[in-house]
Amino acid sequence: MDLPSVGNPGAGGGIREGFSPRQVSSVSMVTIPRAPVLYNHPEEPSTMPRKPLIAANWKMYKTPAQAQEFFKSFLPLVANHERDEIVVCPSFTSISVVVAAATGSGVAVGAQNMHFADEGAYTGEISPLMLKAIGPTHVILGHSERRQYFAETDELINKKLKAALSHQLIPIVCVGEVLAEREAGKTNEVLVRQTRGVLAGITAAEAVPIIIAYEPVWAIGTGKTATSQIAAEAHAVIRGEVAKVLGQPTADAVRILYGGSVKPDNAASLMAEEEIDGALVGGASLDPQSFAKIVNY
Ligand code: PGA
Repeated sequence: MDLPSVGNPGAGGGIREGFSPRQVSSVSMVTIPRAPVLYNHPEEPSTMPRKPLIAANWKMYKTPAQAQEFFKSFLPLVANHERDEIVVCPSFTSISVVVAAATGSGVAVGAQNMHFADEGAYTGEISPLMLKAIGPTHVILGHSERRQYFAETDELINKKLKAALSHQLIPIVCVGEVLAEREAGKTNEVLVRQTRGVLAGITAAEAVPIIIAYEPVWAIGTGKTATSQIAAEAHAVIRGEVAKVLGQPTADAVRILYGGSVKPDNAASLMAEEEIDGALVGGASLDPQSFAKIVNY
């Protein structure tokens, strides 16, 4: 592989035990440790270990009634689950019922996309203000399906990212190479370009809530998962670029999720990688049992 070994200096490899392996190296330099306040905008990057996050991307599946059914089965399976944050991202039409169903459960709710403007003549679009009004805390931005089928560019995703941050929505921003780019040896170049592009003009303080998802497009919905090693190497490239753009403390704190055919039987080995801070799960998140198994990897 042509991947440089930049990345989390706190990474020690091996299966995690508690959160200690993820303790970041910058801790010793910081005098005031504080809890990771993920729903607010802290003034400075977190110095705490990166708490794993497992997110469901339901894509264009499930009616509101089906979403409610899912929650009836799913919540008992993850009751009192504290090791990982859980986020479910239904389609816009199910957000309200999912917010209601998830209330008090500790499961957070996200949208799958949004426009960057607060309001305007943009037929068919949903604004950050509209999302805030109905309760989701997260929003997926720049998913490869948005890039591929709806011509979203890094520049547009960057505008959406800034809008999400200014509205206190936690962005899960996606990057990832297509198969041809990987085969041409351009993976690192693509990841660097996308990471720089989506983060353009954002300061380290503003970037604190950002979550990045590495989703190699060739692994999405194909059943082909990147090996843990391929994913970890890509995450290190992304984290290295975040360090260059926003500084090492931000890079140490930012959570990078892996997405692309995550299933109950591969979740544990992916999550064992120090560089992998969680998963963005498509197909396998539609079934409550299967998603619960991933959450409980
Ligand atoms: P998949 O989708 O798990 O079905 O591959 C992941 C995603 O697109 O977020």
